[in-house]
Amino acid sequence: MPNTTKPVGLPTRGTTGHNRLRRSDRWLVHSPRVRTGLLSATDPLVIDLGYGALPVTTLELAARLRVVRADIRVVGLEIHPERVVPSVDGVEFALGGFELAGLRPVLVRAFNVLRQYPVEAVPEAWAAMQQRLAPGGLIVDGTCDELGRRCCWVLLDAAGPVSFTLACDPFTVERPSDVAERLPKVLIHHNVPGQPVHALLSAADRAWASVAGHGVFGPRVRWRAMLDLLRDQGFPVEPPRRRMRDGVLSVPWAAVAPV
Ligand SMILES: C[S@@+](CC[C@H](N)C(=O)[O-])C[C@H]1O[C@@H](n2cnc3c(N)ncnc32)[C@H](O)[C@@H]1O
Repeated sequence: MPNTTKPVGLPTRGTTGHNRLRRSDRWLVHSPRVRTGLLSATDPLVIDLGYGALPVTTLELAARLRVVRADIRVVGLEIHPERVVPSVDGVEFALGGFELAGLRPVLVRAFNVLRQYPVEAVPEAWAAMQQRLAPGGLIVDGTCDELGRRCCWVLLDAAGPVSFTLACDPFTVERPSDVAERLPKVLIHHNVPGQPVHALLSAADRAWASVAGHGVFGPRVRWRAMLDLLRDQGFPVEPPRRRMRDGVLSVPWAAVAPV
């Protein structure tokens, strides 16, 4: 795949691991907005930007998204030339940065990429990717811990951020705000009193404590009860899927946008 433009961005640490991004993959597969984007695309091209030292998460993304649409084409882009590998299982890999190697994808996943940039770099990086999106295209900009137990991501379209989601293994957190250490760059400095993301996480912690009694049925049931309570309190929390393995809390971007 020829890429004549200079990749935009900076090579960073290549930490990755098998199944690290499974929670975000699961969410993508079930998100109505993402599914519609993938199913209605003329060219169902998906880019995994900054896949790291090994292309494992790109291959996992491809396998999971092919359940939604079998003819999805996945390309992994890396800014570090030595990390670009030959194609595997129909997934291609190429040199590229935020300019997306001149491709026009319907979905871009960039996980643990912007986390290593200064916060001032975020708007420009987002804009570069947004310009390259196919009609109806979406971007997932996320961050997680090494094992992928605590994750957060922002979903964006060509116009701006759409939603914010946090996902965790509810068996391994003491309270929802444990995930705050993995907030995306755009929010992490705003997790302070007076900011909406702080208000949401504090309310989630209070709700989690209030529904502690549900813990006897396991942390997944308790998580669900916490979401119900938050909704009763007026937080625009997305209703959980019927059988949800992960602790997921998703809100429209407006509910966390820094003030
Ligand atoms: C920490 S690794 C993340 C790997 C994988 N996405 C994950 O979450 O497990 C970040 C990777 O992003 C690459 N990277 C940084 N900036 C980039 C950019 N602008 N375009 C493409 N790759 C980039 C780095 O070279 C590095 O390999």
